[in-house]
Amino acid sequence: LVQPISVFKGLEGVYVTESALSLIDSENGVLYYAGYDVKELVERSSFEEVVFLMLHQRLPTSSEFTEFLKLLRRSQELEPIHIETIRKYAGVTDILSLLAMLIVLEGRGKIGGNSNDFNAAVNAVAKMGSFFSTIIRVRYGGDYIPPRRDLSFPENLLYMMNGEVPSREHADVLDDLLILHAEHGIPASTFASLVAASTLSDLYSSIAAGILALKGPLHGGASEASYAQALSIGSVEKVPEWVQLTLSEKKKIMGFGHRVYKIYDPRATIVKNIIARFMGSMNSEVKKVYEITRALEEYGEKYLASRGIYPNVDLWTPILYRMIGLPADSFTALFAVSRTAGWVAHILEYWRENKLIRPLHLYVGERPRKYIPLELRTGS
Ligand code: ACO
Repeated sequence: LVQPISVFKGLEGVYVTESALSLIDSENGVLYYAGYDVKELVERSSFEEVVFLMLHQRLPTSSEFTEFLKLLRRSQELEPIHIETIRKYAGVTDILSLLAMLIVLEGRGKIGGNSNDFNAAVNAVAKMGSFFSTIIRVRYGGDYIPPRRDLSFPENLLYMMNGEVPSREHADVLDDLLILHAEHGIPASTFASLVAASTLSDLYSSIAAGILALKGPLHGGASEASYAQALSIGSVEKVPEWVQLTLSEKKKIMGFGHRVYKIYDPRATIVKNIIARFMGSMNSEVKKVYEITRALEEYGEKYLASRGIYPNVDLWTPILYRMIGLPADSFTALFAVSRTAGWVAHILEYWRENKLIRPLHLYVGERPRKYIPLELRTGS
């Protein structure tokens, strides 16, 4: 008897592992990291504390946090091999690809499978931040600035990029964005990391797999795509016609839709609340993108909400990224810096009971047939 076989395209609805890291309550629109509402973490915690939370599934005591920060700060310093690689490639490749290259370099000689390798996990998060800032700095004609031990992770990120200690406001916005993107279950990038890790590849190479899965516009690349989309629409007046045309051509509106949320993405609400605090201080470009995005949200929802397609976090984040001075081609890379916290935590968690990830495909090709030598083939 032939059993009916189900194929789950895109692994939609398939549970591939257990995890204690995050809970997406997609009915009520709440995201929890190890039991903490991400909204509360954004309001009261820091990215650094969230990295600890991800790795240990609990918040640190103050002495643990002091030790943790020492390790993180030390690990933020780059070595000559990183700096030379950045100098060589920053001008010739996109930021995300170079991040992947550098993290692979960091993994040279390392082996995978150690679920207690917290130091490597912290080192990966720290290095990603410094890689990000230094790539951007070198691209704009500057050179490596070592991190300062008296600055927080987001402060150092902006300091190493710009050469100036950022304002409290900008550092706080960046901290919020880093927290918001730190973890989100098993999207394509985290799954890619887990697939690599499940072969017992090293931690850093597994992160590289995650980084590269962020590149496309359907996942990590959506914020850059959504920003470019707003600029190409050009004005608020053109939004209604643009939405109608885009949907009639069966194209997607970037920054809308989500595999898990069929309601408004709670992270988008948090981002919008942060934006509201800065309405008075936006420059003209950011203000224009803000107005277009607002109209896009209104008209997009009008047509798509009935199908469970709502704005996601990436519709709104470009406004904050630009507001704190990030280049328009660096948004996805910043996402990678933040999500490294989630990737490393998932990888260590998975290695506790590692199982090679090896799904199946349902074969629909030719039946077995004979090989005909080239000279005897007739072409039909
Ligand atoms: N605009 C218009 N139509 C959409 C959109 C959208 N943004 N998203 C989904 N749809 C439509 C599809 O065209 C499709 O229509 P059809 O049934 O008539 O063919 C239907 O909804 C299902 O779409 P899928 O892409 O198969 O649904 P899925 O659950 O895989 O979608 C996804 C999730 C890929 C994120 C999708 O909504 C999308 O492409 N959005 C735009 C890109 C984006 O913003 N991605 C960021 C997601 S958040 C993150 O990764 C951080």
